[in-house]
Amino acid sequence: MDIETAIRERRSIRKFKKDPIPEEMIREILDGARWSPSWGNTQSWELHVITGEILETLKKANRQKILDGILPSPDIEMPLEWPDRMKARYMGIGKSVLTALDIARDDREGRQRYNTDMFHLFDAPGLIIAATDKAVTSRYALLDVGLILQTICLLAHGKGLGSCIMACAIAYPDLLRSLAHIPGDKTIAMGVVLGWPDPEAPVNRFKRSRAALDDFVTWIK
Ligand SMILES: Cc1cc2nc3c(=O)[nH]c(=O)nc-3n(C[C@H](O)[C@H](O)[C@H](O)COP(=O)(O)O)c2cc1C
Repeated sequence: MDIETAIRERRSIRKFKKDPIPEEMIREILDGARWSPSWGNTQSWELHVITGEILETLKKANRQKILDGILPSPDIEMPLEWPDRMKARYMGIGKSVLTALDIARDDREGRQRYNTDMFHLFDAPGLIIAATDKAVTSRYALLDVGLILQTICLLAHGKGLGSCIMACAIAYPDLLRSLAHIPGDKTIAMGVVLGWPDPEAPVNRFKRSRAALDDFVTWIK
């Protein structure tokens, strides 16, 4: 698959088949992704691959936290206020997902069910947590994390695997530290789930949108 196709075709997958991912395949993806750029070639990212029983326990515990009404407290604070046009996009993706799942706006129970499914990480069979050593965590290190995560998603797509970068996966860092044994001296930056996409699921097929070039590009000559 050429790069342009991979970039345009990749999309966040929110419904997976049950089948596990061969460990060798994850290894190949990560082996490719280590060639991602980073500031000064520092390669400050650290990746934790979580599968099997530990992932199942983690998904349940993550879901339970949100069901118990415990507010997420990620290591990297999540901005709550966004400018209107960005908020509109954020609301737009939520609407697209719920429409694809046939959940009406006023269906509180349906929305709650979806939210808990999301905190159950869409029941994906694989999770990669990107962390950095607390001693080196900086905005630059976080840029590097973003770069390697996009590379992982593209390489996964090239192998027919689906992915979804998920803030919900790192909402409760204490869980990752206790259940997945991620040491306390790491900043847990972001997670990405992996698995075989359900190609028929409307939630994996709805039309996505992007701003037009002129909305965000300035040409200086
Ligand atoms: C840092 C980050 C965190 C995200 N967290 C979530 C999440 O918790 N749940 C979710 O369903 N999607 C999450 N997404 C996926 C975005 O909603 C998605 O990338 C965006 O809507 C664009 O859609 P696309 O990936 O299908 O092109 C996240 C994406 C990024 C980059």
